[in-house]
Amino acid sequence: MNYSELLSGEIRRLEESKTFKYETALRSPQGGRVKVDGKDLVMLASNNYLGMSNHPKVKKAATDGIKKFGYGVASARFLCGTQTIHQELEKKISKFVGTEDTLLFSSSFAANVGFFSAVTNEKLGLETYKDVIYSDRLNHASIIDGQRLCRAEVTDKKIYNHADTGDLERQLEEDKNKDYRFRIIATDGVFSMEGDMAPLQKLVELKQKYNALLFVDDAHGIGVVGKTGRGIAEHFGQLGNIDIIVGTLGKAIGGAAGGFVSGSGQMVSYLRQKARTYVFSNSLPPSIVMASMAAFDLLTKNKSIVKRLHENTAYFRKEIKNLGFTVIDGSHPIVPIMLFEASVAQDMSAELQKAGVYIKGLWFPVVPKGEARLRAQISAAHTRKDLDHALEAFENVGKKMKVV
Ligand SMILES: Cc1ncc(COP(=O)(O)O)c(C=O)c1O
Repeated sequence: MNYSELLSGEIRRLEESKTFKYETALRSPQGGRVKVDGKDLVMLASNNYLGMSNHPKVKKAATDGIKKFGYGVASARFLCGTQTIHQELEKKISKFVGTEDTLLFSSSFAANVGFFSAVTNEKLGLETYKDVIYSDRLNHASIIDGQRLCRAEVTDKKIYNHADTGDLERQLEEDKNKDYRFRIIATDGVFSMEGDMAPLQKLVELKQKYNALLFVDDAHGIGVVGKTGRGIAEHFGQLGNIDIIVGTLGKAIGGAAGGFVSGSGQMVSYLRQKARTYVFSNSLPPSIVMASMAAFDLLTKNKSIVKRLHENTAYFRKEIKNLGFTVIDGSHPIVPIMLFEASVAQDMSAELQKAGVYIKGLWFPVVPKGEARLRAQISAAHTRKDLDHALEAFENVGKKMKVV
């Protein structure tokens, strides 16, 4: 087989099926506006929810990190990759999310992959055992990949319909008398295609009723939802009731890179020994560690940042609906604007770029057939002027394309 022919054939197929992912080069930092080919565009496609990606205090902390602790640590944590700042950041995160301990990873993708494989594949002194994972159908790719690494001989992997606690309970009930070692319910906190939140209250109820561990990947929740940005646990009044919280430092909290798992002292100590994406991978660089601490400090000391994000979101959601667009209702800064046809989403994204708005479309197979959309993401970095400019562009392009 000629590998280059096979690969280029697949690339052609992606282009022909209009599922090829094109990359647009920005000539500026991430912000409420970005520069593309000399043009200023309102950025509506970034996870920079709190505007920390280019915040002066976050940038200063990153350069301080380099000055005091160097550029890289050139090691995994247990060799010589632990600096005092890594421990400080772990403590800060635990305090922020309300858990006993925290473990840093190079990304939250790595955190998810590390968690599932470490927990299910070890005998822990038992001769035989079986674990079971119940996973929301729309969970993030990294949760799916983490579960792929759980060996089938020792792990039953079950999927429940998206946010369908009835379906989950039916499966938990069915398995009630089976002799499972661990029962794990796994969900995204906020689902990134819809901007909807996991039904946390009911999940907590179910995990208590069936003696399961509740795992929540709150990558789009930490720093974003809840009055003080503590994530969906705060939003639903469930702080302290999630067993394992995964978060990212690559979205609201500075947006560079890094992720974490937070939970009980035993769980974190265990993962520190066993999570392969932690043990066999490099430690986070000092610039990111110090900048992440600065981002958490800003978030806790300056309540107006999250407040601004929530106000901007409420304003954009209200006004885009007033223009006649169909949006998936909710309160999260991810605002899916439904256009249904993939070609309309593609054309509208291109037209909006010409009108000064950077926004990406999503279509099958990323979302179900017939549910193509533009996904707007609102930030605290947006000024009212930025949002009004974007809304005006939506109105003009929407009318021109006869969408509204
Ligand atoms: C729910 C969820 N988990 C994990 C990730 C991966 O984040 P990171 O960039 O930290 O690997 C993402 C990012 O897209 C996400 O949306």
